[in-house]
Amino acid sequence: MHAVLIHKFGGPEELKYEETADPVIKADDVLIKVYAASINPVDWKIRQGLRKGAEAVFPMILGRDVSGVIEQVGAQVTGFRPGDEVYSCPDISRDGTYAGLVAIRADEVALKPRSIGHELAAAIPLAGQTAWQGIFDHGELKAGQKILIHGAAGGVGTMAVQLAKWKGAYVIGTASEKNIPFLKELGADEVIDYNTEDFSEKCKDLDLVFDTIGGETQAKSLKVLKPGSILVSTVGIKDPEAMAAKGVKGVAYMAHPSADQLKALADLIDEEKLRPVVSKILPLKEAAEGHRISEEGHTRGKIVLQVYPSMTLEQIEEFIINFPLFF
Ligand SMILES: NC(=O)c1ccc[n+]([C@@H]2O[C@H](COP(=O)([O-])OP(=O)(O)OC[C@H]3O[C@@H](n4cnc5c(N)ncnc54)[C@H](OP(=O)(O)O)[C@@H]3O)[C@@H](O)[C@H]2O)c1
Repeated sequence: MHAVLIHKFGGPEELKYEETADPVIKADDVLIKVYAASINPVDWKIRQGLRKGAEAVFPMILGRDVSGVIEQVGAQVTGFRPGDEVYSCPDISRDGTYAGLVAIRADEVALKPRSIGHELAAAIPLAGQTAWQGIFDHGELKAGQKILIHGAAGGVGTMAVQLAKWKGAYVIGTASEKNIPFLKELGADEVIDYNTEDFSEKCKDLDLVFDTIGGETQAKSLKVLKPGSILVSTVGIKDPEAMAAKGVKGVAYMAHPSADQLKALADLIDEEKLRPVVSKILPLKEAAEGHRISEEGHTRGKIVLQVYPSMTLEQIEEFIINFPLFF
């Protein structure tokens, strides 16, 4: 198969599009023909050698999101068969999805949303599961509560805004000015421009802050939370003592694969209650360009890597240019 591999840590130029051996499945795996993958910041953090605790085995195939078609099932797999259209966020310890084929444990896979092509489905798994686990499992968000989402226009943030609205929360997001109309269209009740406004002056008595930014943004968030509230972060908790002193529960977490959550996300998409946000689709061999863009830190939604087309160029162009009118 063809795949994008790294042979050592380094810059985007280390991503090499090469011929490599097909993966071999285990008894509880499925083999997926990858139609599309997508880029997450963790991909370039791994590529740079920044992810602590990760064992470096080269060559390494990056990528945590896939949408594709099952080619083969392992001897112990009962829930899937060849031809099923599926999507997944596979375990980070194995080879990733920037490839023609990927072997994934069947219990990390779900049927993809029926109503969208692979290019859009590949945008969902990691960001969708991260948002779901952050605001529901760790953040315990309930209808009627007020949530502030930092990084609302990003891959995780665009999922979190929509899921929080679906739950019945009042949603405030932070983003730059260019993303304000887009986020309101997506469902945010208020959007605060982090370049010109101070969210800590504009918000108070919130139930939950979902932080995908960290640093000073996280530190200032303590001012807007009420006692007994929760701050959940995808990038670590900087000052747990300050949170405890304010009576705020601080939670840092690593998202884990969940087929049940993928199924719930697919249902929401098919019911038109959740929509993927994709700002760019590149051929797999241009993964390095995708990393360069993602590393700038201002991607709206997701960047997708296409292996086999499932949507026409016209459909894709219309989707990207006319977003959010695609439904
Ligand atoms: N713990 C986990 O399991 C987990 C899982 C997924 C992601 N993560 C981490 O969570 C972080 C976010 O991931 P992601 O995929 O959402 O990243 P992303 O898509 O690259 O986020 C880009 C977005 O961040 C926004 N942004 C940049 N600076 C901002 C600021 N100061 N305030 C508010 N928004 C700002 C940008 O909006 P503008 O263009 O409007 O500035 C852009 O839309 C990354 O560090 C990632 O590694 C962790």
